[in-house]
Amino acid sequence: MIVTLDRLLDIANAENKAIGSFNVTGLEQIRACLEAAEEENEPIILAFAQVHEEEGTIDLDTLGPIMVLMADLSPLPICVHLDHCVDMGYLKKALDMGFSSVMFDGSALPLEENVAYTKMAVELAHSYGATIEGEIGVMSGHTLNNDGVVEDREQDENMYTDPVVARDFVRETGIDCLACSFGTVHGLYATEPKLNFELLAKLNETLGVPVVMHGGSGVSEEDFHKCIDNGVRKINYYTYMAKAGAEAATSYKNDGKVLFQDVAYAAQLAMKADAKQAIKIFKNK
Ligand code: 13P
Repeated sequence: MIVTLDRLLDIANAENKAIGSFNVTGLEQIRACLEAAEEENEPIILAFAQVHEEEGTIDLDTLGPIMVLMADLSPLPICVHLDHCVDMGYLKKALDMGFSSVMFDGSALPLEENVAYTKMAVELAHSYGATIEGEIGVMSGHTLNNDGVVEDREQDENMYTDPVVARDFVRETGIDCLACSFGTVHGLYATEPKLNFELLAKLNETLGVPVVMHGGSGVSEEDFHKCIDNGVRKINYYTYMAKAGAEAATSYKNDGKVLFQDVAYAAQLAMKADAKQAIKIFKNK
């Protein structure tokens, strides 16, 4: 059954836990996440990130309706969410498809523009009865060096979310939750992530809406629990699940008789195990 994100955030608040938001790029990942959720009897968020369409991996027109259909068939409350959307038309497309939550990411814009566009996105999302997440403070991720090779970036502390600016941003825009930058990065870590828990506690105290943590891959169980105890209610998680799937697929025996569905299923099972482990941790018990 599809539910809005704010309903799941209320549950998370009441139970001092976080809801996992899993990015999906294909059917195997959708099934992996939903089956993991069912086995753990926990609600989750199925998310689609606009960047995956830009990379050419998959498009919202194809995967969005499948996400909505499969979430609807689940016996658990599932939120279908658009992640890191930078385009108002794209945001509307997801809402028209039945997504129950969207993120407008104006974090790369000057603050005034971020406020103005986020306000428009809030009005649009709320007119559909959907929940909306915003972002200020920039989280880094992969970057390409001059040879076109993917490099890991470390987090730049100057880009961390400022609690006072964030509080005003929440008040001015009317967003329901905020992606905050306090030490995590998207993708693979170059070094152990160092999270600023003092800043996180301050953000939690000041914002008035739940804190969202991006870049869940590579964070230790202990740090996840500390984040949840300091108010994180939604955790975005993708890379390590996708990596588990890739490792299962590439190490699958090839005896000349292997067919695509065998490899895809092996990857699905590995991603399910990884997602299950994350869901267990996010329960914070
Ligand atoms: P990871 O890929 O680092 O787990 O982060 C996912 C994310 O934050 C998506 O918005």
